[in-house]
Amino acid sequence: MGRRSSVQESCPALLQLLLLQAVGSLAAPNGGPPSQLPLVINTWPFRKAAEKAWSTLQAGGSEMDAVEKGCGQCEIDQCDGSVGYGGSPDEHGETTLDAMIMDGNTMQVGAVADLRRVKNAIGVARKVIEHTRHTLLVGESASLFAESMGFPSEDLTTQTSLSVFLKWLNRSCQPNFWKNVTPDASKSCGPYKQTTAFSKEVWNISERRVEVHSHDTIGMIVIGQTGSIAAGTSTNGADHKIQGRVGDSPIPGAGAYADSTAGAAAATGDGDVMMRFLPSYQAVEYMRTGMDPTQACQKVISRIQKYDPHFFGAVICANTSGSFGAACNRIPGFTQFHFMASNPNLRQPSEQIVDCI
Ligand SMILES: *[C@@H]1O[C@H](CO)[C@@H](O)[C@H](O)[C@H]1NC(C)=O
Ligand SMILES: *[C@@H]1O[C@H](CO)[C@@H](O)[C@H](O)[C@H]1NC(C)=O
Ligand SMILES: *[C@@H]1O[C@H](CO)[C@@H](O)[C@H](O)[C@H]1NC(C)=O
Repeated sequence: MGRRSSVQESCPALLQLLLLQAVGSLAAPNGGPPSQLPLVINTWPFRKAAEKAWSTLQAGGSEMDAVEKGCGQCEIDQCDGSVGYGGSPDEHGETTLDAMIMDGNTMQVGAVADLRRVKNAIGVARKVIEHTRHTLLVGESASLFAESMGFPSEDLTTQTSLSVFLKWLNRSCQPNFWKNVTPDASKSCGPYKQTTAFSKEVWNISERRVEVHSHDTIGMIVIGQTGSIAAGTSTNGADHKIQGRVGDSPIPGAGAYADSTAGAAAATGDGDVMMRFLPSYQAVEYMRTGMDPTQACQKVISRIQKYDPHFFGAVICANTSGSFGAACNRIPGFTQFHFMASNPNLRQPSEQIVDCI
C-alpha cells in the first residue's frame, strides 16, 4: 500500500517538474535560464517584511537596501515579539537586540550584539560596514556608536515585555538558562553562585524544554537581477536570557551568510546550539559544490541532529541561480516550517511550507 501510493505521488510530481521546466524555458529570454531573479526569501511568515524588501528592490534599491529595509520592517512591527523592541526580556527585564547584514559581493559584514536602547538594530549593523573598519560591535559601546550615528536612544521596554518579565519573576524565574549554581536554578531566582561540586555535564535531552517561538529571528536573503547577494538577520534573542547572552543571529556563518559566487543561507531557532555548527556557512559551502538548496539546508540540519535530536531550528537556502529551499528539525509542536519567498514567477510574496525532517 505504501509503495503503491508513493508511485502514484511521484509520477505527477515528475510531470509537474517537466512542465515547470518547459514553462521556465519558454519564459526565458533568448534561451537563457528561466527568470528566477530577483529573489527575496525570509524565515517565518513575516509578510510585511517580505513586501518591504521586494518593494525596495522594485524601487531600484540595492540588495543590501532590501535586506536592511525588510528586516527593519520586522523591527518596527515587532514580528512575533521576537524581533525589535518590547520582546524577549532578559533576566533583568531588559530587551536587547542582535542584528547582522552581509554583502555577498565584497564579503563585508556589519553586526551588533547586545545592543541596548536602540530600535533599528539592522540599521546600526549597516553603519558598522559604512562607517567603521570593524565587523561586530557589542553592548553599551554599540549603543554609543549608534547614538553617534544619529539613532535615537529609546527605552525598549513595553507593557508587554514588562508583564512577561513580572510573570516570570512570579514563577520563581522559571525557566532560565543557569545550571550548576546555588540556589538551585530550577526552583529559585538568583543571584546565583557556582556550586563547587557538580556532575559532569550530560546533554540530557529529556530535561531540556522545548519552547518553540521563544527564539525566533528574521533571517533574509536577497538576490538581485545581476546575481548580487545580500543576507541579514534581526532578533531580540531568547526570553529570560542571562545578561550578555548573544545568539547565532549576529555571527557571520551562523545566523546568516552570503557569497555572490555560491549562494546564501540564514538560520532561525535555538541559537545557543545552532551557532556551534555555523549552519549558514556550511549550507553555502554545500551549494558551492552544486548541491541543491533544499538538500544543502537538510544536510546542515541533520548534522546538528546527530548531537542534539531535539534542537529547535530551521535554515533557508538559495543558490546563485535563484533556486531556494528550507529545512527544519522535526520536534513535537514543530513539524513544518513556514517562510516567505518572492520572485518573478511567484505571487509576491508567497508563503512557503516545508515538512521538517
Ligand atoms: C503570582 O502568582 C500567583 C499564583 O502563583 C497569583 O495568585 C498572582 O496573581 C500572581 N501575581 C502576578 C503579579 O502575576
Ligand atoms: C535526564 O533527565 C530526566 C528527567 O529529569 C531523568 O529522569 C533522567 O534520569 C536523566 N538522564 C540522565 C542520563 O541523566
Ligand atoms: C541551483 O539549484 C537548482 C536546483 O537544484 C539547480 O538546477 C541549479 O543548477 C543550481 N544552480 C547553481 C548555480 O548551482
